[in-house]
Amino acid sequence: MIVTLTAQALFEFEQVAQACHWTEQQFKDTLIADGCVVLPYYSNNQLIAYLLAQCVCDECELLQISVHPDFKRQGIGYDLMSKLMTLLKAQSVHRLLLEVRDRNAAAIALYQKMGFVIDGVRKNYYPSVTGNRENAILMSVRL
Ligand SMILES: CC(C)(COP(=O)(O)OP(=O)(O)OC[C@H]1O[C@@H](n2cnc3c(N)ncnc32)[C@H](O)[C@@H]1OP(=O)(O)O)[C@@H](O)C(=O)NCCC(=O)NCCS
Repeated sequence: MIVTLTAQALFEFEQVAQACHWTEQQFKDTLIADGCVVLPYYSNNQLIAYLLAQCVCDECELLQISVHPDFKRQGIGYDLMSKLMTLLKAQSVHRLLLEVRDRNAAAIALYQKMGFVIDGVRKNYYPSVTGNRENAILMSVRL
């Protein structure tokens, strides 16, 4: 299921979750881009997690996955990734890829649990608050 969600709702969610630092405009641009998939996750009518991905031909890139801090380690990230992978398989998408900071042990563990493998490393790819840059790990899974 592909659900429409506003850029404002995602931006406001990230003011609390603090998982990514996209502007509202970045969310807007992503939501209107061709091939965008957004999966929101609600509890008591409150947005508590979401996933954003973008498909091009038979490949899809995971752009964001974020779970509210109060709801982590409850299987929601796994559930969202499972839903995405089921949806992509139904659309004959053959590969799901992503980039993740090498210090993000929680996300890397989640992706490995979903069957992703490491394809490579982009050294000093991400800026960080400490001023030192962080490596990006490139991962993918065949669907
Ligand atoms: C990464 C994230 C999405 C995981 O969501 P979650 O709902 O907490 O994860 P789940 O409860 O579904 O966990 C599924 C698996 O992921 C791994 N995992 C999740 N959190 C972990 C942690 N803190 N430490 C180690 N492994 C972790 C485990 O393998 C876990 O399986 P298990 O519970 O059987 O051990 C969440 O921590 C988050 O929103 N982080 C901030 C945003 C972010 O970093 N996004 C990724 C950007 S690339």
